[in-house]
Amino acid sequence: MIKVGIIGVGTVGASVVNILKENADVISARAGVDIVAKSGVVKNLNKDRSYLGIKISDNVDDILNDDEIDIVVELMGGVEEPFEVVKRALKSGKAVVTANKALLAYHRYELQEMAQDIAFEYEASVAGGIPIINALRDGLSANHIESIMGIMNGTCNYMMTKMTNEGVAYNDILKEAQELGYAESDPTFDVGGYDAAHKLLILASIAYGIDAKPEDILIEGIQNVSQDDISFAKEFGYVIKLLGIAKKDKNEVELRVHACLIKKQEMIAKIDGVMNGISVVGDKVGETLYYGPGAGGDATASAVVANIIDIARSGKSKPMLGFDKPMEGKLTLKATDDIESKYYIRINVSDKKGVLARITKIFEDNNISVETMLQRPSLANSANLLISTHIAYERDIQTMMKEIEKLEFVNFAPVMIRIV
Ligand code: HSE
Repeated sequence: MIKVGIIGVGTVGASVVNILKENADVISARAGVDIVAKSGVVKNLNKDRSYLGIKISDNVDDILNDDEIDIVVELMGGVEEPFEVVKRALKSGKAVVTANKALLAYHRYELQEMAQDIAFEYEASVAGGIPIINALRDGLSANHIESIMGIMNGTCNYMMTKMTNEGVAYNDILKEAQELGYAESDPTFDVGGYDAAHKLLILASIAYGIDAKPEDILIEGIQNVSQDDISFAKEFGYVIKLLGIAKKDKNEVELRVHACLIKKQEMIAKIDGVMNGISVVGDKVGETLYYGPGAGGDATASAVVANIIDIARSGKSKPMLGFDKPMEGKLTLKATDDIESKYYIRINVSDKKGVLARITKIFEDNNISVETMLQRPSLANSANLLISTHIAYERDIQTMMKEIEKLEFVNFAPVMIRIV
């Protein structure tokens, strides 16, 4: 019998206990051995968890020093505290399963180093219930990965879907996502793009062997996406979604998370609500698409339990991040400034003579070519200029946006959303 200890028994932890019980028949048959949740550790003992039928304490030592526990499931959240806990678990020879993307975004290479002979699995850390780690690390291991692009944060996708389809205001819908249990304990991780960035960094290690930290990549959230831009996007046949993008370009890989305008007929544009969807393009397989619930207790716990079964089957560790040794001609991270994209830009200006000429001159001076331009009257003698660009460099766009914001006839900070 394999015994599991769960550190952090919240929504996901409780689902892990339940799945191990309710699906014991299929789990035992697939693993070839019975698997039970023995004990859990929580921060606050006041809440009644007796219904789970496992021993609960508030001391991690009760799991880490328990010789009967074979697998430690870490669901605490945070970075440094769980890092210490999983290091102790690995040192004492216990296999580890985690859903903690923030931990991996910062410490995945140190953990890989420590987990050489011990299993360390983390399927639930990216896109909840979708087996994307398994697909990328094993199913697509014959390929050079050309790109990964997807919806990796259920909260943002839920919010953007409601804002687009029902015109619901940002703050109301954020509250709803929190109540439904999709959001992180600090929802700025979701709406600021950090949660998606943590997931993207994990995928980038498996796909490309890139060791980057969140601070090294372009991360923007959805806080500045307004109803104005959502309806202009709709009018031109686009939807706005938060995407995580990893793209190989010769020996470099660009990594970025930001709101995007996506043509509404694209498959990814149709992924709505709390669902996640990730497209992976391999040089041999072509495009593959993974779709499913990216948040929620049972969906996330489904991935955690799959890792537990996998470990129970073999007990062996595979290269945690998918590479047994560094690849020849190692890929490096592309500088944010060198990223190229098309851009949608909205500038709210006073509607008077010469304004357009000054704006287009600034575009030219910054080496940015306009693809389409439209002027829409707005309130009180002002107008929205709606511009899409040809492919331009991020550095040029950033400089230009600052110059435009300073112009005396520009009413608000101009809006920029990248087009994919
Ligand atoms: N807050 C995350 C999301 C949960 O909304 O996708 C799963 O990581």
